[in-house]
Amino acid sequence: MNFETWTRDPRTVSADALAVFVFEEDSLTSPALSPFDEALPDLLSSVFGTEIRGKVGEVAVIHTPNGLSAKRLILIGAGPSAQFNARALRQRSAQAARVTVKKGLTTLAIALRGELEPAVAAAAAADGILTGLYDPALYRKPKDDVKTIETVTLCIAPSDEAAVRPGIDRGVILGEAVNFARTLAQEPSNKLTPLEMARRAQAMAEREGLTCSVFGRDQLTELGMGALLAVGQGSAQEPQLIRLSYRPAAEAAPGDIRLALVGKGITFDTGGICIKPRDAMWEMKYDMSGGAAVIGAMQAIARLKPPIAVDGYVAAAENMPSATSYKPGDVLHAYSGKTIEVIDTDAEGRLVLCDALAYARKDGGATHIVDLATLTGAVMVALGQERAGLMGTEPAFIESVAQAASAAGEKVWQLPLDEEYGELMKSDIADIKNLGNRYAGSITAAWFLREFVEDTPWVHLDIAGVAWLDGDKADLAKGPTGFGVRTIVQLAEQMAVGKSD
Ligand code: BES
Ligand code: MN
Ligand code: ZN
Repeated sequence: MNFETWTRDPRTVSADALAVFVFEEDSLTSPALSPFDEALPDLLSSVFGTEIRGKVGEVAVIHTPNGLSAKRLILIGAGPSAQFNARALRQRSAQAARVTVKKGLTTLAIALRGELEPAVAAAAAADGILTGLYDPALYRKPKDDVKTIETVTLCIAPSDEAAVRPGIDRGVILGEAVNFARTLAQEPSNKLTPLEMARRAQAMAEREGLTCSVFGRDQLTELGMGALLAVGQGSAQEPQLIRLSYRPAAEAAPGDIRLALVGKGITFDTGGICIKPRDAMWEMKYDMSGGAAVIGAMQAIARLKPPIAVDGYVAAAENMPSATSYKPGDVLHAYSGKTIEVIDTDAEGRLVLCDALAYARKDGGATHIVDLATLTGAVMVALGQERAGLMGTEPAFIESVAQAASAAGEKVWQLPLDEEYGELMKSDIADIKNLGNRYAGSITAAWFLREFVEDTPWVHLDIAGVAWLDGDKADLAKGPTGFGVRTIVQLAEQMAVGKSD
């Protein structure tokens, strides 16, 4: 897909469709709309106030035989202008692209408007168009007549041109990273085994100039990663610990920060011996979405090259019931040296993560850790499919991650992590058990992880509710969302600028 810019009158841009955003407070005399009303006197007024009032998601298409160079004007409701942030612009650009493709058109122009910085707006538009057009039908035979958008033209003010080009590049990098993560999550577990996940990470690393190391069963045994190994031991597929490293061009100095991104990579979660009910079990192929977000983000970081060291870790395993499975009551020896009593084999995410977290801080030299995991159904009970749960230990670092999420247009909500919740995780036989009681399931899961990061500043994002979309939206196909990629890329850049948390 080509991205171009147009700095002249948008009425003269040629394209199959020109998308214009309409705010709730607009009238036909608004500066952004009046030129089109002049060019299409009766046409624009015929839909304005009826078909299109500026409500989020409304669409009206006008065929413009003479008045414009573009063959159609697509009006997209964009809500109140005060709420038109980068996330909203991304979503509405995505919608414009989806409408355009549905109509079989191949060139789209978008008239950017609003108060956003030009680079931010261009990035949001490019990201939205790429992620909006993503097709999750990985294994469906493509229809001969499907067309996609070949050229996108952003209509901008001439003075913004210098800022818009790098903005577009950034948006393309983010959009491609999000889509890469979505493909990994969409892949079924017969295709994307832990080893195949490692291969895809390795291939990306070679392409992008990252270093990648992968530990299979033998190395994990040597390292003593008893928790990750236990989760994988019921499967014919070996568990893998994947590490991707990005180092900035400048030599490291003592005291430099090192960010670790740790992802849950359960390529399929049957629940193990504590097997899940059959309803929607197939969806548990996305239980590696945290790991996919880490791999996707590392691709974007490799391309954006922020001046900060970043390591991505994925703890990959398949959780299966079999004669070799780990069982309730088993005691595991984690990499950190702690012992864990298994109460429930379906609480496996925290087990694979605890070894990766301890490795990131002990061997990986992480000064700050963010983990992403489809960890609990409880977070969906608490926050639904709108926001990820955010928990952590250090207020300043929690604030940094929350800010990064907000700038990246991904919604999170903090849950508490008081000492008292730890009472629920005490074991009668080992240092800790892997299950609390019926209550506060997302918090007790995070508490368990906390025991393995000790004093390293750490934030945990429970993305179980936001990593998968149950039905198509105007701006996004159903299926995996790639949630988290944008937030952790933004965080890395933010920390590189601040050079601290
Ligand atoms: N992968 C699941 C969590 C999950 C549930 C993600 C639904 C996405 C959608 C996790 O491994 C799990 O099974 N969690 C259990 C925890 C329980 C055994 C403490 C759960 O949420 O029921
Ligand atoms: Mn589980
Ligand atoms: Zn799971």
